[in-house]
Amino acid sequence: TDTQVGIIGAGPAGLLLSYLLHLQGIDAVVLEARSREYVEKRVRAGVCEQPTVDLLRNIGVGARMDAEGMPHHGLSFRFEGQDHRIPLTELTGKCITVYGQQEIVKDLITAHVDKGLRIEFEVSDVALHDLETERPRVTYTDAEGNARELNCAAVAGCDGFHGVSRPSIPEGKLKVYDHEYPFAWLGVLAKTPPSHEELIYARHERGFALHSMRSPELTRLYLQVPPDESIDNWPDERIWSELQQRLETRDGFTVREGPIIEKSITPMRSFVVEPMQYGRLFLAGDAAHIVPPTGAKGMNLAIADVRNLAWALKALLQDGDPEPAAAYSDRCLDRVWRAEHFSWYMTQMLHADPGADAFQQRLQLSQLRYTVTSKAAAGSLAENYVGLPFR
Ligand code: FAD
Ligand code: DHB
Repeated sequence: TDTQVGIIGAGPAGLLLSYLLHLQGIDAVVLEARSREYVEKRVRAGVCEQPTVDLLRNIGVGARMDAEGMPHHGLSFRFEGQDHRIPLTELTGKCITVYGQQEIVKDLITAHVDKGLRIEFEVSDVALHDLETERPRVTYTDAEGNARELNCAAVAGCDGFHGVSRPSIPEGKLKVYDHEYPFAWLGVLAKTPPSHEELIYARHERGFALHSMRSPELTRLYLQVPPDESIDNWPDERIWSELQQRLETRDGFTVREGPIIEKSITPMRSFVVEPMQYGRLFLAGDAAHIVPPTGAKGMNLAIADVRNLAWALKALLQDGDPEPAAAYSDRCLDRVWRAEHFSWYMTQMLHADPGADAFQQRLQLSQLRYTVTSKAAAGSLAENYVGLPFR
């Protein structure tokens, strides 16, 4: 074999898996369609759960996260012009850390370079073969245009929702759960200090808005927009005007405006396939499941998957024990469905559903009020938000 594990995709899932396998003495090669520069600049998630932070720290890739990441001990729900703070740490003893996904990606790539681990960027035509056998193969074209083949003992499909791994599984082998929402998120990164010390999830008749950050100088903001909305309809002035309206409070809060340096629209969906494996192909992260971003679970779930997968592959390939690999999917799906429910729950509690009647709007407000006033309800939300312990 050319390598023990062929990993498709250099997102958080693929890179962390490769590094965890290296720490256990297992050889892997990561194949990535984009360039190193592209994956390091892609602005996405920002909230790391406590278990995610602990894991990155424990394996020695947390130094910059510890120096530059921003620990948050609470967050606010804003509705009817008022803030209601959920004291995460008081309720759970844990916190979240605001540290950009692309910073984690950068740190993991640096760790690979330092240890001489193999990542091939800018590959194309990736195709998976012989997945039912103990010698699966990956064919691809490398950055120089040469046809290549990788012989492995297992393949990890970490290539996100639009990758090739999941569609390589024969029709009828997977049960698909899919749910779409009647909205999308417009996300912006602005060169301006955050307007508040913590995250604000705002429910407003005009639609949901979220105030987050990346550093003391960079603000990250999101707006609910219609699905299939074009970014061309959102010049910067309209974005700021909408943010001001949706985030306004009775005591005169305003959003600090500044130059917008990145903006994009993300559709929202919930999606799960079961099982997350087929023969010697194991799916992890967005390749196997998608959550709507409300609740900040996607990247954290990808990390929890590969933690299980690294352990299962070690048992399979090093100890000759196939049981953990056979149980990989079931082991992951517990956490996946908890995150699916939590993300759906946060989404429906905070967005303005164009199809909701007056009765449903009243229920939504009642649920929000209960969540912020009942210690039991706030505690349940906080426990999910900071991240349930790994199994
Ligand atoms: P990806 O990051 O998608 O990585 C897959 C990789 O595979 C990519 O690099 C891609 O280029 C590569 N690839 C694809 N196809 C191929 C191919 N054919 N061949 C080779 N390579 C291929 N999650 C959170 O936890 N917290 C948050 O706060 C949060 N906020 C978000 C905000 C936004 C706006 C968005 C869009 C997402 C957010 N998420 C959040 C979700 C999170 O970004 C994803 O869940 C996470 O990126 C999943 O990681 P992954 O490694 O599974 O997939
Ligand atoms: C961010 C993204 C989320 O989906 C979320 O729920 C909170 C924060 C962010 O990008 O900062």
